[in-house]
This record gives sequence, structure tokens and C-alpha cells, in this order.
Amino acid sequence: MVSVDIHPQNPPQFLDLRLFDLAPNAVHSRHTVDIFGRAHSRISFHDSSAQLIMTSALQLEFLDLRHFSAQHLRPLLDEESALWSQRLHWDYRSSASLVLQYIESHLLSGYAALDQGRVCGYIFCVYETNKAVIGDVFASRLGVDESAAVAVELQLIDRLLETLQHSPDLTRVEAQLLLHPHGLHREPFERAGFQLYPRLFMELELNPPEPSDSTPAVRPDEFEGPGGGHYRRWKNSDFELSPRLITASYAGHIDSEINDQYLSPGGAQRFLHNVVRFPGCGIFEEQASWVLAAPYDERLFGLLLCSRVSAVVGHVTQVCILPEFQRRGVGEKLLHLCAASLQANGCNAVTLTVTERNTSAVSLYRHLSYHVQYRFDAMLWEKRWH
Ligand SMILES: CC(C)(COP(=O)(O)OP(=O)(O)OC[C@H]1O[C@@H](n2cnc3c(N)ncnc32)[C@H](O)[C@@H]1OP(=O)(O)O)[C@@H](O)C(=O)NCCC(=O)NCCS
Repeated sequence: MVSVDIHPQNPPQFLDLRLFDLAPNAVHSRHTVDIFGRAHSRISFHDSSAQLIMTSALQLEFLDLRHFSAQHLRPLLDEESALWSQRLHWDYRSSASLVLQYIESHLLSGYAALDQGRVCGYIFCVYETNKAVIGDVFASRLGVDESAAVAVELQLIDRLLETLQHSPDLTRVEAQLLLHPHGLHREPFERAGFQLYPRLFMELELNPPEPSDSTPAVRPDEFEGPGGGHYRRWKNSDFELSPRLITASYAGHIDSEINDQYLSPGGAQRFLHNVVRFPGCGIFEEQASWVLAAPYDERLFGLLLCSRVSAVVGHVTQVCILPEFQRRGVGEKLLHLCAASLQANGCNAVTLTVTERNTSAVSLYRHLSYHVQYRFDAMLWEKRWH
């Protein structure tokens, strides 16, 4: 599982929200272009609250997101939430309100696209030391066809990448655009020297429990496991034990290329904080999160974390097993326990994301009848490559 951004994968509470200047004088400049990025011109003005007046329906303006308050972005985020629900069956509203809170505090770096004074698109990023994580890009589909909306998104991406790549302190930029299908936004990222990693969004449908079955689906709630360990539900004290497990499981792994939080205990702890303690989108579901713990809970051999992303859908935000415990049925058991717990709590589906090149994980999920709903992209740029 790779984590970024403000969705279940990585809300920004632990991320650095310091105010990078987006571009020289960005707060005081507008960029005016047509919808496909032609005929650039730049108009400088000094009053950032000045009325936005445009001359043509095809013209767009791009402004620093920090000009705006929640009310300007709310209609766009409502529209985006509907798309999350339609495409991924996720209730994006809690994430959307978190994004709006950050916008209202003028803390979120990024750009808004304006069409005749109306915000029709936005992109934002958050910072973690010398890294920027692009959290989201979205343009309104209302009254325009898909290609016009995508054209706006491409321009927003271009602008943000240009800014980030010219920020002297930044050495790394990560992005995962879960809402958007594979390849849709590849062009500006590839042009800017990013590597792309196709990822899969997979889903398993859960049958409702038999009406006659009144016993809870997961009983007892401790089971013997390999290495003298025991399977049990997640408890708070596992928080301290998990970073070591995550860094060991992901050593040399493709997912720690995409998300460098997996490389160090501090990074893994930030990941855990975002997933377990912070309700970005999806509420951590303790009842459906399981571990394989060593005798006396001295350490963890494996873990699975799950969040609720809608009233009836659970999402596996992390599953990892120590290398010496892999291929011993632990991953399969944890996924079974999670699915049974969700089913007992009224869910009709469980979802997860996986990097396509992570063939062992993909085999496991296919083996358990998860099917691919969707392909999307993770993107990575590092200054040292250039
Ligand atoms: C992916 C991972 C969770 C799998 O857990 P695991 O405990 O090793 O998997 P299991 O032993 O339960 O495997 C069950 C089945 O999945 C499939 N499978 C698992 N690993 C496989 C592999 N390396 N190659 C092919 N199939 C594999 C097989 O069908 C296997 O059944 P079999 O062993 O009877 O053939 C584990 O390898 C891991 O932690 N990897 C590092 C972190 C990671 O990639 N997490 C997932 C991120 S989305």
C-alpha cells in the first residue's frame, strides 16, 4: 500500500504546511491562457481581492489557491465528491471538508483555475521536509466535455510542477491521482521528468451475513499463528511496534520507491499517524484491523490496517508481513479476518490499492477474488536524477 495526500492514504496533519511561495510574486500575478494552454500572457496586479473579469469563455486564469476561501471552492468539491462516490464508491465528503478547512485558513499551496471568475479547477500540494506531495487535481465537468476538463487539469499540473521544480529546497515530488484513470495526466508529468507507476484499485464484494446467523462472524478473536505468534485485533500499543515492521517489510520494495515514508521508522510513524489517528477520509476501523503478534506482544510479524471509506465500504490502507513470515498464509489470513469483520459490521465491499509491479501482492488479491476496478497512476520526481 502506498500512501500520499489527503485521502485515506495520507491526510496532511503531519505534513508541513509552511507557506512556500508558489512562484515569484505568485500571490500578485495572474496567468491568462486559453483552455488548451495557448497564447500565454501575464497580467500583474496588486489587489489580490480584485474582481476577476475575463474576456472570453475560453479563457482561464490561474491564481494562487491562497487567494480563496472555502465558499469559492465548495461547489467544485461537492462535484468532486460525487465523482469519488461514482468511480470508487468512497464517501469523499469528510476529505472535502478537510480540504476546505485548510483552504479557509489559507494554508494550502496550489492553484485555482478560474473561468469568468468562477473557480472551475484546483490543484494542491502539502510539504514534508524537502518533499512535496501533490494531493489532488480536479476540474469541473459541468457543462463541458471530459476533454476540456482534463485540459484544465493538465494546465494546473504544469503550473504546479513548474513551481515545485523551481523551489530550491525541494528534492522530491510525489503524486498519486487516485480519482483519475491511468495515463490521463501522464504528459505533463513525463515532460517534467517524472517516473510513472501504474497502480490498481481492487475490490472484493462481501455478501451480507446469513439472517439466521446471529453469532458474530469472527469468533474467537484470537487465533494461533506461525512462529508461536497469535492473530488478534489491532490495539493502541501496536502503534509503537508497527514502524519497525513496515520498514522491514518494505526494504528494497517498489512501494518504498514511490513513498519514501516506508524507508525510515520516522516516516513509517507519520504514515501510521495519518492512517490511524487522523480522519482524513475514511475513519480508522479498529474492529477490522488485525495483526500477527509475537508471543507476549514483543513485536509484530504482520499487520493489516483498515478504514471505513463509506457507510458500507472498508478500505485496506496497509497490509505487510515480515519477509521471514511471507508465503506462510499470513497475508491471506489477515485479509480474511478483515473481510469477515467488515461483513459483520454491515459492509458490502472492501477495497485496496496496489502497485501493478508488486506481483506477489497482486497474486494474493486475485487469489482471494479481488478484481481490478480501476487503474491509476503514482508519479515520482527526484532532483538527484537530473
Ligand atoms: C504481499 C504480502 C502481504 C503477501 O503476504 P503473504 O503472507 O506472503 O501471502 P500468503 O502467504 O498469505 O499468500 C497467499 C497466496 O497469495 C499468493 N501469493 C502470495 N505471495 C506470492 C508471491 N510472492 N508470488 C506469487 N503468489 C503469491 C499465492 O497464491 C499464495 O498462496 P500459496 O502460497 O498457497 O501459493 C507480503 O508479501 C508482503 O508483506 N509484502 C511486502 C509489503 C507489500 O507488498 N504489501 C502489499 C502492498 S499493496
